[in-house]
Amino acid sequence: MILEFETLKKEIQQFNSSDANEIEKFRIRYLGKNGLLVRLFDEFKLIPSEEKKIYGQKLNTLKTLATDKYNLLRTTSDTKSVVRSSFDPSLPSMPLKTGAKHPVSIIRKEIIDIFYKIGFTISEGPEIEDDWHNFSGLNFEPDHPARDMQDTFFIQTDPELLLRTHTSSVQVRVMKSEKPPIRKIFPGRVFRNEAISSRAHCIFHQVEGLYIDRNVSFSDLKQTLLFFAKEMFGENTEIRLRPSFFPFTEPSAEMDVSCTICGGKGCNVCKYTGFVEILGCGMVDPNVLESSNISSKDFTGFAFGMGIERTAMLKYQINDLRLYFENDIRFLKQFTSVI
Ligand code: DAH
Repeated sequence: MILEFETLKKEIQQFNSSDANEIEKFRIRYLGKNGLLVRLFDEFKLIPSEEKKIYGQKLNTLKTLATDKYNLLRTTSDTKSVVRSSFDPSLPSMPLKTGAKHPVSIIRKEIIDIFYKIGFTISEGPEIEDDWHNFSGLNFEPDHPARDMQDTFFIQTDPELLLRTHTSSVQVRVMKSEKPPIRKIFPGRVFRNEAISSRAHCIFHQVEGLYIDRNVSFSDLKQTLLFFAKEMFGENTEIRLRPSFFPFTEPSAEMDVSCTICGGKGCNVCKYTGFVEILGCGMVDPNVLESSNISSKDFTGFAFGMGIERTAMLKYQINDLRLYFENDIRFLKQFTSVI
């Protein structure tokens, strides 16, 4: 038996392999259920008790040797090293698909943030409106052709109800419920019975602005809008106000900004005029103030309204309104970095 111990000890010490199969064979041969060590422990029971001490020690040494060897080889075997070498901590991680804000949401927030800086807060109104808030309270006479400027969706069950055609309706609600000074913007969704094309849609978004106080003048309006244009399109942006008509403002104007594409030099976006139209505005008509019970002797005010899609079009050079509503992922993912 002593002899066998020595041979086995040498065998174990000399064994070396990085092959997982060979290492498994080693385990079975020495440490397995029917392995050599189990056999030796069985034989150990039969030897005379005065010899047990010396054999016991040798057997234990052999067992420790085999176990240690097995554990060592197992941790450095090929299977482990294959797993190890396939892990490269310097590789970039798997690309994560992140969501993106819709361009309408991005521009809506930008507009709100710009006006917030100069003291405007937000109010919202209902999308289903009545004729009074959408038209009559804004000085649209019952059969005035200006009503036809905005092709209206009426609610079939009630001729007084409609889908609001502009966010100017919120002006009326706020003037009725609050006292001047009023300095607010009203973002929201509006509806018009338009055939859908690259330039028109039946649903779109607007932001309306209203400022009413004592001694508000046209130059306050102009300065406010100039501030907005520079913040939105850049410090070098210029504005141009052209006389226009809206029933609820007098005088009324349309505002152009220097073309965001060519910077005013002339291109096909601005039709070689150097300017693009961005919003409607004016001084709140005294009739509008009076019909909301605000004294036009004591107070004056200005109002303006702009399309969010239109502003986003100029900012991001989007040339088709339909893109905003189709939710094509190829379009939307371009805005991932603009948060
Ligand atoms: N409500 C107008 C529209 O939808 C835009 C507008 C023009 C709003 C002039 C105003 C304004 O407040 O003063 O076309």
